[in-house]
Amino acid sequence: MLWYGAALALLAGRAIANSVTDGVTDPPAIVPGAYIVEYEVDQDTDALIDKLGGEASLRRDLRFKLFKGASIQVNNLEHAESVAAKVAEMPKVKRVFPVRKYAVPHHTVHSTGSAVEAIVSKRAAGGNDTFSTHLMTQVNKFRDNGITGKGIKIAVIDTGIDYLHPAMGGCFGPGCLVSYGADLVGDNFDGSNTPRPDGDPMDCQGHGTHVAGTIAAQDNNPYGIIGAAQGVELGAYRVFGCEGDTPNDVLIAAYNMAYEAGSDIITASIGGPSGWAEDPWAAVVTRIVENGVPCVVSAGNDGSAGIFYASTAANGRKVTAIASIDNWMTPTLLANASFSVDNKPGSDFGFTAGDPSAWGEVTKPLWIVSHDTTDPAHGCDPYPEDTPDLSGYIVLIRRGTCTFVQKATNAAAKGAKHIVFYNNQPGTVIVSATGVEGVTAVAMVTADQGEAWVRELEAGRQVVVTMTDPSRAGKFLIYAENTVSGGFLSDFTSWGPTYEVEVKPQIATPGGLILSTYPRALGSYGVLSGTSMACPLAAGVYALIMNVRGTKDPKTIENLLSATSKPNLFRFSGQSAPFLAPVPQQGAGLIQAWDAAHSTTLLSVSSLSFNDTEHFAPVQNFTVHNTGKTEVTYSLGHHGAATAYTFLDPSFTTPVPFPGILTQEYASLTFATGDRFTLPPGHRKIVSVRVQPPALDAKLLPVYSGYVTINGTDGSNLSLPYLGVVGNMRSAKVLDPARTYVRSSKTGAELPVPPNTTFVLPPAGFSNDTSYRNRTEMPRLNVQLTMGSAQIRAYVVPVGNTADGIARVSNPFGLNTIGLAEGFPAMWNPRGPSAFIWDGKLEHGEFAPAGKYRLVVKALRIFGNPENKEDYDEAQSVEFNIRYLSGGSAKLRRWKERCRDEVTAAEGVQKRSAIRIPTEDR
Ligand SMILES: *[C@@H]1O[C@H](CO)[C@@H](O)[C@H](O)[C@H]1NC(C)=O
Ligand SMILES: *[C@@H]1O[C@H](CO)[C@@H](O)[C@H](O)[C@H]1NC(C)=O
Ligand SMILES: *[C@@H]1O[C@H](CO)[C@@H](O)[C@H](O)[C@H]1NC(C)=O
Ligand SMILES: *[C@@H]1O[C@H](CO)[C@@H](O)[C@H](O)[C@H]1NC(C)=O
Ligand SMILES: *[C@@H]1O[C@H](CO)[C@@H](O)[C@H](O)[C@H]1NC(C)=O
Ligand SMILES: *[C@@H]1O[C@H](CO)[C@@H](O)[C@H](O)[C@H]1NC(C)=O
Ligand SMILES: *[C@@H]1O[C@H](CO)[C@@H](O)[C@H](O)[C@H]1NC(C)=O
Repeated sequence: MLWYGAALALLAGRAIANSVTDGVTDPPAIVPGAYIVEYEVDQDTDALIDKLGGEASLRRDLRFKLFKGASIQVNNLEHAESVAAKVAEMPKVKRVFPVRKYAVPHHTVHSTGSAVEAIVSKRAAGGNDTFSTHLMTQVNKFRDNGITGKGIKIAVIDTGIDYLHPAMGGCFGPGCLVSYGADLVGDNFDGSNTPRPDGDPMDCQGHGTHVAGTIAAQDNNPYGIIGAAQGVELGAYRVFGCEGDTPNDVLIAAYNMAYEAGSDIITASIGGPSGWAEDPWAAVVTRIVENGVPCVVSAGNDGSAGIFYASTAANGRKVTAIASIDNWMTPTLLANASFSVDNKPGSDFGFTAGDPSAWGEVTKPLWIVSHDTTDPAHGCDPYPEDTPDLSGYIVLIRRGTCTFVQKATNAAAKGAKHIVFYNNQPGTVIVSATGVEGVTAVAMVTADQGEAWVRELEAGRQVVVTMTDPSRAGKFLIYAENTVSGGFLSDFTSWGPTYEVEVKPQIATPGGLILSTYPRALGSYGVLSGTSMACPLAAGVYALIMNVRGTKDPKTIENLLSATSKPNLFRFSGQSAPFLAPVPQQGAGLIQAWDAAHSTTLLSVSSLSFNDTEHFAPVQNFTVHNTGKTEVTYSLGHHGAATAYTFLDPSFTTPVPFPGILTQEYASLTFATGDRFTLPPGHRKIVSVRVQPPALDAKLLPVYSGYVTINGTDGSNLSLPYLGVVGNMRSAKVLDPARTYVRSSKTGAELPVPPNTTFVLPPAGFSNDTSYRNRTEMPRLNVQLTMGSAQIRAYVVPVGNTADGIARVSNPFGLNTIGLAEGFPAMWNPRGPSAFIWDGKLEHGEFAPAGKYRLVVKALRIFGNPENKEDYDEAQSVEFNIRYLSGGSAKLRRWKERCRDEVTAAEGVQKRSAIRIPTEDR
């Protein structure tokens, strides 16, 4: 059975346009001229910098127990690639890779506010923990039994922590809740400028304080927020300034510092699209896990992109990727205001102020364009001709389909200054309508409140609303049951697996609609959504399990959590499906921490991958170990989860966006060793699982998945997630030739240039010189990957008699080429768009002479052999001409002298990785 078609997939795409977390995260940008150098063996970083004779300066010494290296900044960007090449050739250098930047993950801030007039959600009598996310995950049971993670150190790599917040301990340093850590970057760091570490990991963004509160918020708060592991010590490793991104050399340093400070657990709610465990940052995290410290990383918030969109560093091997589930409850922090109906005053309501929010002194009647409270696109069209002047009203608009800005623009066209949106989902969000001319204040109320007002208006009654200045209004918390999505996977949670069919994510925890601490300057408390909010709960659970079981071994704990987690049904658009959500979405399911802490049956793995058809590994083994005191008889079973097609039909090359195309045609499993066995105390047994994948169209790359169930007579119900792919990953096209083309660096148009266009380049070596900018135009190569590619190459191929007499570069494709364009090969690329501006420079450091060329782009397919030309997809640009402004002749002469030696393009591929220009023009 097929469930949901393309039409619904499209609808989901449109619905996303009006969510606060807009669109899919772009591939992480590269920092120009910045490289991470990993040493083969330890060496003196100063000596390395000296050897570069002033060509590069030190960004950061990265010499740690588990990583030896440095990051460098090439001083003259014109020489970036050649300096990187020089470093790569140095003895004792293992590899050189570009520095990439990661953003604070797109998360939704629903509402924030401090407790001026708190209506506190009371904990149940007896003081037991009834915090809803704890009830969902059994975390409450630890606290009720006095287990708080005492003695465990959790490092939080994030935006810092507002440690002066009373619920975060009120101080920083030994003896405090936030007892250790560092600020690696300083307030003014934006991801590109020079970090100024200042030792003070105070948070000015909010993200890190929210994350930290989920782990360890203390009871002294008015909203009943309870940290999962209140007894732990936190380490705050601050890697973001007040705005902007963080580069992976800073992340690598933070991880190693956290490891060396003796952290027992490291958590990071940071990531960017990747899909490759080989990503350098992910590889560092893997190494830390291999050295005994569990690392949990948020799975990513790109669920809308569909399957195969794993995020780094969560996609690292042995790294525990945490998916998000929506809270059973919808906490909402609202500002107090009032309204009257037909002059009967006195009803209170709450709102979440948006941006702008000049709501003080505003008392106006409500006006609404239509009374349909189910209209999915309410207010998306221009208002009718006969609409009155709306400046005397507060316009009420339902959320949905088009952007808030679009809706506000339509209202403003009829004079509206004040707009209140009502939600079409649980809770509220902070709406932005900045830049809409004439609009001075926006806000959101809950769906219930909005619908109640619509009823009054529909009945012909007048509703007059008296708003309040949100910065001064009393705030209160409402806690409604989340009947829409509570307990189900959050729509935004990113889907795995990796391109090499490794199971991602591992486990899920609540991350949708989470109430936690927020910096005092930003309201002290906030309700946020994201896998960022899920990950810290998992970190807290690791601490609790360490307390109970006395082990800190990452593998043991991950295996326990995976085996005891509860898979849930798939849900989309308010409906739950009659089948389990695919393993690539939920991993093992919602963690059950108490069961994990007390399970006496241990499995030797946390998941199984049967790989794809080409690399089919149909038999997988795992061990069942009875560590209990009694004999247990186990029965094995199988529960299929939805199979998810990667492609809609064979002509499509991009994976189907959320919610995808799902079917209930499952794999079948057989247990060669029998499906029932008895283990005396202390005994183990190897279980051999043989899979028969579903007979489905291999061209569509269906990803099947499900759970091996292991029920014991001791009452245990364990399940082990598995997945596999029908078809060959190698058969999937990775490059879209129609969207891979040369355009102009200058005009904004996303269109290929006409054939025979002439680009006038800056003199060789002066492409970054602003004095030439007005007079030059460079080819910009847009590359569109439909699936991840481990390697992209762009060859420069002369046309006609261009570059005659210049040596050709050998390549597997038999191309008549003078080399790769600088910036290639680009390694470990996520799917999606990327852009490279070409100033005529070649990968080996010389410049292409003036003349006519085309660029031939080759992208390696998944599991492709880099030496095998059949394993690449190709796209060709039109022929275009380049010439240089005068000034660069010296370099061109040098080229002519040196080009006699043939250069092998494939050389250095193992050691080097490419520089990539951020998508915006330089
Ligand atoms: C190159 O140009 C960028 C953008 O204009 C500028 O930020 C950077 O400092 C320049 N670098 C060099 C080495 O000239
Ligand atoms: C609180 O939790 C403890 C331990 O689970 C339990 O024994 C006790 O009955 C609970 N108290 C209430 C009031 O629910
Ligand atoms: C699938 O097989 C390929 C080729 O042997 C291997 O590189 C990859 O790691 C395998 N994936 C898993 C999850 O075992
Ligand atoms: C799985 O176990 C069986 C015996 O139980 C053994 O013959 C086989 O080699 C094992 N396979 C793997 C991949 O370890
Ligand atoms: C194991 O227990 C679960 C939950 O009680 C049940 O759904 C499943 O059918 C059981 N499996 C076997 C093989 O008994
Ligand atoms: C291509 O452009 C060059 C330089 O502008 C011009 O001399 C030539 O005639 C053009 N060729 C064609 C086929 O349009
Ligand atoms: C380049 O453009 C800027 C503004 O666009 C202008 O002020 C400047 O004079 C121009 N320079 C040249 C050399 O044309």
